[in-house]
Amino acid sequence: MKYKKCHTYLLVAVVAVFFVCFSYHTSDAMVSGPCVNCHTMHNSQNGVSVARDGTGAGWNSSGKLSGGSLQADPLKTLLVSSCVGCHTSTTGETIINVGGSRIPIVFNTGGYPAKPLAGGNFYKVSLGGDNEVYGHNVYGIAGADSKLSTAPGRQSGTCGNATSCHSTLAAAKDTFTGMTNGCQGCHVRVAHHDDSKPWYRFLKGHLDTVDYVTGIEDPNWEQNPDQNNHNKYKGYNGPVDSSVTLEQTHSINSFCGGCHGQYHRQQFMGSSSPWLRHPSDILLPQTGEYSSYDPVTNYSVEAPVAWTDPSNPSRATAVVMCLSCHRVHGSQYPDILRWDYSTMIAGGSGSGGCFTCHTQKSQTP
Ligand code: HEC
Ligand code: HEC
Ligand code: HEC
Ligand code: HEC
Ligand code: HEC
Ligand code: HEC
Repeated sequence: MKYKKCHTYLLVAVVAVFFVCFSYHTSDAMVSGPCVNCHTMHNSQNGVSVARDGTGAGWNSSGKLSGGSLQADPLKTLLVSSCVGCHTSTTGETIINVGGSRIPIVFNTGGYPAKPLAGGNFYKVSLGGDNEVYGHNVYGIAGADSKLSTAPGRQSGTCGNATSCHSTLAAAKDTFTGMTNGCQGCHVRVAHHDDSKPWYRFLKGHLDTVDYVTGIEDPNWEQNPDQNNHNKYKGYNGPVDSSVTLEQTHSINSFCGGCHGQYHRQQFMGSSSPWLRHPSDILLPQTGEYSSYDPVTNYSVEAPVAWTDPSNPSRATAVVMCLSCHRVHGSQYPDILRWDYSTMIAGGSGSGGCFTCHTQKSQTP
């Protein structure tokens, strides 16, 4: 009897430890499935190349890589396609299942998907021309932006050469650092087989190992987000000056600030009302019109917040962030916004978007 009880306690303790470990696990990025889904040992089968890449390459409705062209030269790490090719689909699905591997899709070539993932989708920006305002122009998806010859708000001094990822993500390589650009201008160090890395969605700076973003990842990349299933972003109780870097904050805003510094630092943004640019990395006030938005009990996926401690979200520690208003890859709205800005009318009866936080600006006088 005595022993049984002891075992029960032990079991409860083990279950509790298991639960704590897994519920606070911040990174969930490990691939699964047969090697052959993603790798080719010699880039040859029956004497024909296996690797497929280039414009239009992506997974089709039969779960096969199609489009683009077969690559005579093998790809790095023996992969069957590039970052773009493997994360693209010619279907409307945003998570596809290839023989036991779940692949998150960020570019649907056939149209803007019904259920885009958290970062949005590169479909619209891929169309080029006037559509370049709908996303980041990324190598393999869109050519360089014709109006933006550098990242808006870029601070002078930070890697200013024309092919630097601080000026364009549409170049294959950064000639200054020699590093890969494109997707890897942001996902600097991928680790598809390693869950032990602390960084959120492979988002890192390029200085050393400590400049990374943290956060809690929704296992479905917000394909169906709701109150209980969504990413939890890391923010910081700023405003920040130049001495406060990504290494200290691990904030998603510091990450965007790496290329768009003037939109993040207090020198250019201001440090209290009246602000000079819309603040990010400041606490969402608990008073005035902001008191009506409680993201702990009523999280808005349309205008989300970050938290100073994503494992312990509280109303007092909710933070305004770049992703409160923007998606990152691409969206259906200009300036990669999360909603249609032209429908935000002061003194009308609008809701959502800006009004999620500025709850009194829609009220008629
Ligand atoms: C769903 C896709 C996928 C599957 C399945 C997969 N890999 Fe990978 N693997 C990748 C990608 C993408 C990379 C390159 C990027 C990176 O390292 O994050 C990679 C990199 C690697 C690397 C080099 C980097 C490292 O982590 O050591 C090795 C070795 C490797 N894979 C072996 C395997 C073996 C062996 C299998 C089968 C048991 C396998 N992979 C199955 C996608 C996959
Ligand atoms: C051969 C297929 C393949 C290639 C090539 C590939 N990926 Fe992935 N990637 C995957 C799969 C599968 C996952 C989902 C892993 C999981 O289940 O969490 C993934 C996940 C990701 C994620 C999300 C990680 C997370 O935390 O959920 C990012 C970001 C990413 N890949 C970026 C890249 C970049 C950048 C490259 C090029 C360097 C690349 N991928 C190349 C298959 C691929
Ligand atoms: C590695 C550098 C880099 C990072 C990091 C980065 N950006 Fe950008 N961003 C650029 C460049 C370069 C452009 C201009 C060319 C283009 O539109 O792609 C740009 C353009 C933009 C635009 C305007 C798009 C348009 O065409 O009108 C928005 C909005 C934007 N970024 C938001 C963000 C947000 C939000 C983040 C963080 C989640 C972020 N960026 C992180 C480099 C970066
Ligand atoms: C400007 C920076 C930037 C570029 C360029 C970029 N990503 Fe991302 N990516 C992000 C951020 C930030 C997130 C996290 C989005 C979130 O959680 O809201 C993300 C998330 C992801 C995910 C997880 C799915 C999701 O939507 O959350 C995948 C997969 C991915 N990226 C792949 C890619 C691939 C492939 C490319 C190149 C075609 C690419 N990314 C280019 C910044 C970038
Ligand atoms: C996630 C919440 C959030 C969202 C969404 C949001 N804001 Fe704000 N906004 C704030 C906070 C917090 C402040 C700073 C308030 C303070 O200093 O007390 C602010 C400040 C401002 C200011 C400057 C006020 C001043 O006193 O200088 C303006 C103007 C503004 N927002 C407009 C907008 C518009 C337009 C949108 C939609 C495009 C928007 N905001 C979306 C939270 C938000
Ligand atoms: C309150 C909502 C909101 C927040 C928070 C916000 N933005 Fe914006 N952003 C906008 C809107 C709206 C525009 C359209 C242009 C304008 O109104 O100035 C825009 C435009 C941009 C552009 C394009 C500028 C151009 O010249 O085309 C970039 C780049 C950008 N934002 C990056 C960021 C970054 C980086 C952050 C975080 C440090 C951020 N934004 C935070 C709403 C926001």
